[in-house]
Amino acid sequence: MRVEDIKKVLILGAGTMGHQIGFLCASHGFEVALFDVDQGVLDKAMARLEKLADRMARRGAMTQDQARAALARVRPFTDPAEAAAGADLISESVPEDPRLKGRVFAQFHALCPPRTVFTTNTSTLVPSMFASETGRPERLVALHFHDVALTNIVDVMPHPGTDPEATALVERFAEAIGQIPIVLSRENPGYVFNTMLSEWFKAAQSLAANGVAEPRDVDRAWMGVMHAPVGPFGIMDTVGLDTVWKITEFWAKKLGDPQAQRNADFMKSYVDQGRLGVKTSHGVYDYPDPDWGKPGFVEGKKD
Ligand SMILES: NC(=O)c1ccc[n+]([C@@H]2O[C@H](COP(=O)([O-])OP(=O)(O)OC[C@H]3O[C@@H](n4cnc5c(N)ncnc54)[C@H](O)[C@@H]3O)[C@@H](O)[C@H]2O)c1
Repeated sequence: MRVEDIKKVLILGAGTMGHQIGFLCASHGFEVALFDVDQGVLDKAMARLEKLADRMARRGAMTQDQARAALARVRPFTDPAEAAAGADLISESVPEDPRLKGRVFAQFHALCPPRTVFTTNTSTLVPSMFASETGRPERLVALHFHDVALTNIVDVMPHPGTDPEATALVERFAEAIGQIPIVLSRENPGYVFNTMLSEWFKAAQSLAANGVAEPRDVDRAWMGVMHAPVGPFGIMDTVGLDTVWKITEFWAKKLGDPQAQRNADFMKSYVDQGRLGVKTSHGVYDYPDPDWGKPGFVEGKKD
C-alpha cells in the first residue's frame, strides 16, 4: 500500500485530540469518518470544527472555500460498521487505557478491510501493550500528536511486531497531513519530546520541592540562559497543574521514587488551592498577564 492509496481516515474518539486530528486530515484532502460512542461528543466536535474552520479562514491559514471543503469531508458516526466501511487508516484517540484501546481496535479489526493501517495516539502507553488484541499487530504503529494547534511535530513509533512497511507508510502519511515525523527506532514510553520534557519538569520540580529555589527563579534561570520565552513552570501552567500532578504521582508510585513523590506533593499543593494553571487563570503564575511574560522578569524587575 502506498500513501496515495490512503483516501479515507477513520478517527476513533472525537474528544480533545480526535476532532482536531480529523480536521487536520480533512484539510489535507482526506475523507474523514469521526467515530465516537457518545452522540453528544460528536455534536460538540462538529460544532467545534465549524468554529475551527472559521478561525483558520479568518487567520488566512486557508480560504473560506478550502475551510468549507475540509468541513464537508468530515462525517460523524456512532455506528461502527458505517464508520469503518472503506477506511484505509485509523487514528485512535480514545481514553488512555490499554484494555479499552485493545478492545476498540479488536472491534474495528473485525469491521475494517485487511489493508487498513491502525495508528494510536497514546501519550504514555506503548503499542505492544495492546498489539495482540488488535488482531493485526503487524499493521499497528503509534502516530502521536502533540498540541495540534501549536506544533506539527509528530512521533511515529513501531512496536517489535510492526511490519517496517507499515511504519514507512505512516511516516509518509504524517507528511501528507503536513506533519514533521520523528521516527523512533524502537518503543519508548513518552516518545522523544515528552521524554525530554518530563526529565526537564522533574529537574525543575525537584529544585522547588527541595527548597533550593522558588519556581519563578527556576524559570528566570532557564529563560535567562537559554533566551527562552517561557520556563518549565510557565509551561506546566499551560499543560495544567492537575495533569502534571497526576502524571508525576502516577510515576512516583509506579517506580517507588521518593523524589518524584516529593515533586508530586509539591504540585498537589497548587491543585489543592484550585490553582490549575492557565485554565483557571491561576497556577504558579496568574493569567492572563503572567509575570513571566512581562518585560524585566528575568532581570527581577517589578512593575
Ligand atoms: N489531550 C492531549 O493533550 C493529548 C495529546 C496527545 C495524545 N493524547 C492521547 O490521545 C488520547 C485521547 O485523549 P483526549 O485528550 O482526546 O481524550 P478525550 O477524553 O477528550 O476524548 C476521548 C474520546 O473517546 C471517546 N470514547 C470512549 N470510549 C470509546 C470507544 N469505545 N470508542 C470510540 N470512542 C470512545 C470518548 O467519548 C471521548 O470523546 C489518549 O490516549 C491521550 O493519551 C492526548
